[in-house]
Amino acid sequence: MKPFIPMSEFADRRRRLMEQMAPDSIAIVAAAPERTRNRDVLHPFRQDSDFQYLTGFGESDAVLALIPGREHGESVLFCKERNPEKELWDGFLAGPEGAIERFGLDDAFPIADIDEILPGMIEGRSRVYYPLGKDQAFDTQVMDWIHIIRSKVRSGAQPPGEFVALEHMLHDLRLYKSANEIKAMARAGEISAQAHCNAMVRARQGGHEYNLEATLIHTFMEHGARSTAYPSIVGGGTNGCILHYIENSAPLAEGDLVLIDAGCELECYASDITRTFPVSGRFSEPQRALYEVVLAAQYAAIDAVRPGNHWNHPHEAALRALTQGLVDLGLINLSLDDALAQEAYRPFFMHRTGHWLGLDVHDVGDYKVGGAWRVLEPGMALTVEPGLYIAPGNTEVNEQWRGIGIRIEDDVVVTKDGCRVLSDGVPKEISEIEALMAS
Ligand code: GLY
Ligand code: MN
Ligand code: MN
Repeated sequence: MKPFIPMSEFADRRRRLMEQMAPDSIAIVAAAPERTRNRDVLHPFRQDSDFQYLTGFGESDAVLALIPGREHGESVLFCKERNPEKELWDGFLAGPEGAIERFGLDDAFPIADIDEILPGMIEGRSRVYYPLGKDQAFDTQVMDWIHIIRSKVRSGAQPPGEFVALEHMLHDLRLYKSANEIKAMARAGEISAQAHCNAMVRARQGGHEYNLEATLIHTFMEHGARSTAYPSIVGGGTNGCILHYIENSAPLAEGDLVLIDAGCELECYASDITRTFPVSGRFSEPQRALYEVVLAAQYAAIDAVRPGNHWNHPHEAALRALTQGLVDLGLINLSLDDALAQEAYRPFFMHRTGHWLGLDVHDVGDYKVGGAWRVLEPGMALTVEPGLYIAPGNTEVNEQWRGIGIRIEDDVVVTKDGCRVLSDGVPKEISEIEALMAS
């Protein structure tokens, strides 16, 4: 299948980053390292998101240098050399030639030669942009290259004087999704939505939480999304009140709700969906009442995602609707305004209503600019995920509510006049969920 992000788009991203860099500077970004799982078994490789954004190059042991104005090419990649014997065991390597031909880099060298070549490229540049402090080993490596230059100052070498965190510029670019990125994220949302539908239907057979996790992973893979964007959360009953529950080992009990927070990753783009539904296929009265409160809060928050509103508007809308619902149901015995002022919702809703979404599930980008909440603009992608979690041991509330955990989460992208929901392929209305589960 044709990739969602064409090579020209990666080149365009590098160009846009270089336009913001000082003219006599260099930016350095490293690929993710391979990580050992146990003995000689590695974790599945996942490219570093910044490196992926700028190259689309999926190998480890690679370093990108962006050098504005360099005569022999501004985008330079250091990567593993081709090696037929090694490739026989571990698979295809692009090699420096392939990096140029297939990935559109301007120039490329073997990674084994980086200590000889890169210091010479840094030398004479006054500023180095790199992800300062992100990875200790890489910090040390950059400083080693600087020491190589410093050792040559008596021969006229000029080490750089400024080291600047690259993230601010790069992550601001990543915050605004292109049409192709939105297509990738929409497809990831579609696959994940299908997985949630399949898990709802599978739940009717009972079994354990991991049976539903298996259905999710199976559906992701069947559609070519080989990885989850984060470990799937499948929490039956009171496990739905544990925000990052990933044990997924308990039996599913008739009469309980199950909360599934799961999304696949496609070309490194994340989806992140939560649905909560009854194992039996029918909501009980207390489950229904609380669910309707969360759903109303989610609609109110989604309605607040539009250009001109700021980052906190959807959260404020969700808080108001959740708190109103808790007052109406008697879980909070205060007026709405007093309850909001005293944050009386906190025992039941303790997280924020969303986060940026992109190459990382909790994507990069500042939430505040100059101390003020960031104004939403077209192309920004985020989740909307209010919830209510009534702790099983909360004796301040009527027993019927205890142990119910509900979250409803969708992925949205800000459009010209509102937002588009990327994850609407799985129902969230009670009647639609019950109909699907009865089918
Ligand atoms: N799945 C993690 C989150 O919803 O933020
Ligand atoms: Mn989630
Ligand atoms: Mn989320």
